[in-house]
This record gives sequence, C-alpha cells and structure tokens, in this order.
Amino acid sequence: AKNIWIDCDPGIDDAIALAAAAASRDVLNIRGISTVAGNQTIERVTGNALALSDFLKMDVPVVKGAEGPLTRAKEDAGHVHGETGLGNTVLPKTAKQTEPGNPFQVMRDHIMNLSADEKMTLVPVGPLTNIALLLKVFPEVSERIDEIVLMGGGTFGNRTPTAEFNIWGDPEAAKIVFDSGLPIVMCGLDVTHKSGLDRAQVDALINNEGEVQKAFGEMLKFYFDSPAYINSELVHIHDAVAVIYLTNPEIFKGIQVSVDVDCTDDINRGMTVCDVRKTAPEAGRNVNLLKDIDLTAFQNILLEKLGSLQ
Ligand code: BDR
Ligand code: CA
Repeated sequence: AKNIWIDCDPGIDDAIALAAAAASRDVLNIRGISTVAGNQTIERVTGNALALSDFLKMDVPVVKGAEGPLTRAKEDAGHVHGETGLGNTVLPKTAKQTEPGNPFQVMRDHIMNLSADEKMTLVPVGPLTNIALLLKVFPEVSERIDEIVLMGGGTFGNRTPTAEFNIWGDPEAAKIVFDSGLPIVMCGLDVTHKSGLDRAQVDALINNEGEVQKAFGEMLKFYFDSPAYINSELVHIHDAVAVIYLTNPEIFKGIQVSVDVDCTDDINRGMTVCDVRKTAPEAGRNVNLLKDIDLTAFQNILLEKLGSLQ
C-alpha cells in the first residue's frame, strides 16, 4: 500500500476525501493527517479533523498546522462550508487529541522514520502553507517524498475569475511547492469540475440506513445548496478527486506542464499559470495537470467507498 499523509482544512469535500481514504485501506496506508487554516479557522478545522478521524475509525495521528498563510491575512469559506466547516452536521464528540510538539517537526519525523525503502505521498487539499514550511524548514524530506497529489489551482478560478481557493489562500506557499521540482499531480478545477455527484445520488446517501452515509449525505446537501453550486447539476467534491486519483489513476487523463503562481497583488493573485504550450521547455515540467476524468467511474467508485463505511 502507498503511504500517504493528508493535509486538509475540513471542509465538506475534505471530509469526503478523508472518508474515501478511510475506505481504501487496502491500497492506501494513511500515516497521518495535518490541518491548515483554509475553509475555517485552524481551531475549527482541527476539531473537525479529530472528530472525522474518530467517526471514520482512523487510528492515525492528527497534527495541528499553520493558523494562517505565510504572508497575508486569512480568509475562510464559511459561505460554502458553514460556520463549523461541516455544514449543519454535528459529529459525535471525540476525546482524540492532536499530536503534541511542533507540527512540522512531527510531520518530518513521520516521513523520515519510514523504513529506508519506503516513501511518503503528500496529499494536500487545502492552502499549501504547511507543505511549503515543511519543505523549507526540513529540506531533507524531499528525498523521501514520492509525489505530491494536491487539490488546487487550474486554468481558471473559483475564488476569483482566475484563482482557485486553495492557491489564492496562500499563493506564496503554493509557489514554493510548485517550484520545489518534486513530482506533483494537480487535481485542479479543470478536472474537479468534471467530477461530482448529482442530487439523486446525494439524496440516496441521506436516505441510507447507515449512520456514516447519512452524515456525509447531509454534508453534501449543505454544500450543494451553497452559492457555489447555483445552477450546477453536480456538486463537485474537489478534495475527494485527489484521493480517487491515488486509488484509480486509470480513470484520469493529464498533461505534463510547468506551473508558476501569481503572487502579485493584482487581479490574477493566486492564479496558477500552467504552461500548456507544446513549445514549452521540457525541463521544469514537474506537474501532471489533470484535465479529464471518467465521471461515471468516479461516481461508482466514490459511492462504493462511502457505502462500505460502517
Ligand atoms: C477547494 O476549496 C475549498 O473550499 C475546498 O475544500 C477545496 O479544497 C476547492 O477550490
Ligand atoms: Ca479543502
């Protein structure tokens, strides 16, 4: 199984990503979860990550990461994910605690303590603050990172016309990550907007007997009813796409590109500038920009995974 570390800001689609990972233990070995301020404050997303990991019976460390972007003020996405970050869904209380210590040191140690023939795949699905800090403060981790499969960016935006929320949330951090040269799989809006569930599928989850399915169905209904999905036939479960890429890469198509990030204060702040020109230099194309997904396969795989959770 692949060793993965999930860095997230739950967040409704983050919650579904965690659920999909929890349902994929045969192929994914979840070594830990770190949280980052994004959809909600660091306190709220960390509380959600603890509650979710307990609810999903994930026996993994949870690390509380950065409380805001590297250089700018923080802004949340409460209008999409609600005040708590998980819509109106209230998960059972948990006694689980975060791992003590400096979060980046803890992440570093989990990576470096893998046995010599093992590597870690990082799966960031929030702003890239933690990952940028980890790479800068502990550069030795680079050699032990297999790849970074992230949700963020795209050739168009959602937070602004040209910037996607996670990259816009900390462009300076995103630039550090894309410039690292590490192999990156970018599950950006180009592909996540081609993924998702429809209303009937969300309703079927809510009407399910299972407590777990009901909880995730309710969260998805809240998400579907948010302003982000006006006139949309599908609720795009962005972050789950990164996890499904890990379990089923064969249902995706991408192209190898270089990506720069706009860190100016101008209208394109947070835009991922993807060089899709055929004439672009070969060197520096460290990003697999996912463009297509087999929607029916995605839906079947995700629903099967959610259905398998007890
Ligand atoms: C991203 O923004 C957040 O609101 C979601 O959790 C996802 O990670 C989509 O742009
Ligand atoms: Ca997220």
